[in-house]
Amino acid sequence: MTSLKSLALCFLAASVAAAPDADTMKRGQAVYSRTCIACHQPTGTGLPPVFPPLAGSEWIAKSASIAVRNITNGMIGPVTVKGTTYTSMMPPVAGVSDKDIADVVTYVNNSFGNSGAAVTEAEVKAIKAKYADRKTPWTAAEYEKEGK
Ligand code: HEC
Repeated sequence: MTSLKSLALCFLAASVAAAPDADTMKRGQAVYSRTCIACHQPTGTGLPPVFPPLAGSEWIAKSASIAVRNITNGMIGPVTVKGTTYTSMMPPVAGVSDKDIADVVTYVNNSFGNSGAAVTEAEVKAIKAKYADRKTPWTAAEYEKEGK
């Protein structure tokens, strides 16, 4: 009983800690409208079979690092999202600061029915530093090999 209770408290603490504040969501939405919306659409549905959805995407759920790396280096298909295979290409997103990337990934992680982590500017910097040598677009096959 006690352990169940502390487990429940743990989940509560985790979800409270991960919940982004309203200002971050507002900034993230502005970055989304400027840099993602043309392809992934206002409600994250994408435009199948050319642009995949972010709403309910298993790649969004898998790791925030994926969105950060797609923004930085782009992504080249094939990639299967919610049962549809896309063989297209996402170009690197230009004109975004590390702070913009943190805000937009936090926004996408917590919009369109998604619920995920808030990403900080420091985390974005760390992900970029880890993959600094990367010059080509990422692939789903590479992401699949990685853990969460
Ligand atoms: C020019 C169109 C375009 C823009 C702009 C764009 N994307 Fe993409 N995105 C794509 C395409 C196309 C793919 C699939 C690429 C492939 O076939 O491998 C993709 C894939 C993704 C994926 C992995 C697959 C999925 O559906 O979850 C994520 C995450 C993602 N994009 C996030 C973003 C975010 C966040 C932004 C804005 C900061 C953005 N994209 C801007 C076209 C775009």
